[in-house]
Amino acid sequence: MSKGPQDKLLDHEYDGIREYDNPLPGWWLILFYINIVITVVYVPYYHFGPGPLALERLDEEGVEAARALEAYRKTLPPRKEFTVEELAALEGDAERIKAGAKTFTKLCVSCHLKGGAGQTGPNLTDDYWLHGGKLPNILNTVTNGVEGTSMIAWKTQLNIEDLASVSVYVRSLRGSNPPGGLPPQGQLEKD
Ligand code: HEC
Repeated sequence: MSKGPQDKLLDHEYDGIREYDNPLPGWWLILFYINIVITVVYVPYYHFGPGPLALERLDEEGVEAARALEAYRKTLPPRKEFTVEELAALEGDAERIKAGAKTFTKLCVSCHLKGGAGQTGPNLTDDYWLHGGKLPNILNTVTNGVEGTSMIAWKTQLNIEDLASVSVYVRSLRGSNPPGGLPPQGQLEKD
C-alpha cells in the first residue's frame, strides 16, 4: 500500500515493525457492525430461543431420512435371501416347523420318508450329512438341489419363505432317529 497523506506512524516499534494509526476502511466497519447486529439476533434466537441448532437440525434430518428409507423399502420387491443371522433366528421357530412339516409331507416324504427316516434320499435325522447339516447348508441343498441326483432344486417350486420353513423343519428332525431309518451317509457333524 502506498503511503497516503493521512498515514501517520505510531510511535512504538516491535522488532523493527511499525504500524500506521489509520482508521479502519468504511466498508470493513459496516460489515463489522452488521455482524454485531446479526449476533444480537442470532445468539438469543438459536442458542436460547426456539431456533434449532445445527445438531438438532441434523437429528431431524436423520429421522426424516430414516422415514424416507423405510418408505423406499416398502416399494421394493420382497426379500430374496436370508442372512446367516436371520436364519439362525428362525431355527426352532414353532410356526416355521409346522409350516415346513406340511411342505415336507407334500413334497419330500416320497424320497426321504415320513419324519426324514430316508429311502431314496438320505436319512435327515442323524448326525451325518452329505452337504452339511447346519441350517444354511440345508437351505442351500434344498434351494439348489444336488446335480445329477433326484434331489432337485426346489427353488423352482417353492418360494424363499417355504424353502426356509421346510429347511427349519428338516433341521428340527436331527436326533429324532425314527425306527427303520437309513444307515448314516456322509460326514459326521457334531452340533
Ligand atoms: C425324488 C426324490 C427326492 C425328493 C422328492 C426330495 N429329495 Fe432330498 N434328497 C434326495 C437325494 C437322492 C439326496 C441325496 C443327494 C446326494 O446324493 O448328494 C437328497 C438330499 C437331501 C438333503 C441333503 C442331505 C445331506 O445329507 O446333506 C436334504 C437336506 C434334502 N434332501 C431335503 C429335501 C427336502 C426338504 C425335500 C422336499 C422339499 C426333498 N429333499 C425332496 C432325493 C429327494
